[in-house]
Amino acid sequence: MRLSNKIKAIVTVAFFNVCSLMSWQAFAASAVPDAAAGKIKAQTCFACHGENGMGIAPTVPNIAAQPPLAIFYQLVQFREDMRKGGDMEKFAKPFSDNDIRDIAAYFSALPAPPAIPGDAAKISIGKQIAQQQYCNSCHAPQFQGQKQVSRLAGQSKAYFITQMRNIRSGTRVDMDGTMGSAARGVSDAQIDALAEYAASLP
Ligand code: HEC
Ligand code: HEC
Repeated sequence: MRLSNKIKAIVTVAFFNVCSLMSWQAFAASAVPDAAAGKIKAQTCFACHGENGMGIAPTVPNIAAQPPLAIFYQLVQFREDMRKGGDMEKFAKPFSDNDIRDIAAYFSALPAPPAIPGDAAKISIGKQIAQQQYCNSCHAPQFQGQKQVSRLAGQSKAYFITQMRNIRSGTRVDMDGTMGSAARGVSDAQIDALAEYAASLP
């Protein structure tokens, strides 16, 4: 290796190390979401989602115990006008990514919504459909959600039904198209049973 090339290589490696150190520091600076700060930032949300993360009406989703990443991506989608509904575009607007991480930390740490009792026959049909359609493979075995995938357990039936229909029709565009394809073949009657089943889970 010619000397100048050797120097170039050393400089390149050193530069790379500095860059990864800087990005690590940037990550560390923003990495730890603060649920207590999130609660203060979430004051405007309580009127509809409750301080306990429970929607005050059937059209308002329960967001208690949603995975933090699921809350994060939904709020970013609202903020960027990629998802619309319930005026959420407006409520999400003022927040930075870090604010949203704090808010997500607050709601995700709350106790999960209680199971909503329902029609036993419908619930068992819903469970069967969920298994046949592999809903659990993404939404987790007890529909508790994981990573960016929403929690469905204990969710309002009316909200569940509206969202499934909107995702199926494309009125709500999901972030990576996977939920869009999952909803495509599901009939209205099946959506009803799935909502009954999801709501019944603790
Ligand atoms: C005026 C009532 C209202 C207020 C205030 C409000 N929301 Fe919402 N929120 C809704 C409704 C209604 C929806 C469902 C929208 C839809 O139909 O798509 C929703 C949806 C959401 C969702 C998506 C949940 C999911 O399961 O996909 C999140 C997350 C959320 N809101 C968080 C917040 C946060 C955080 C705040 C405060 C900054 C807030 N909301 C303020 C009514 C409200
Ligand atoms: C390949 C993974 C995957 C599969 C399979 C899947 N989902 Fe989803 N689902 C998602 C993701 C990711 C989201 C969040 C979508 C978004 O807005 O980007 C979601 C969102 C939803 C929502 C909206 C929740 C909310 O809080 O707004 C409902 C309802 C839902 N899924 C029901 C189902 C049902 C029922 C099935 C089975 C028929 C299913 N999903 C299968 C990944 C999946």
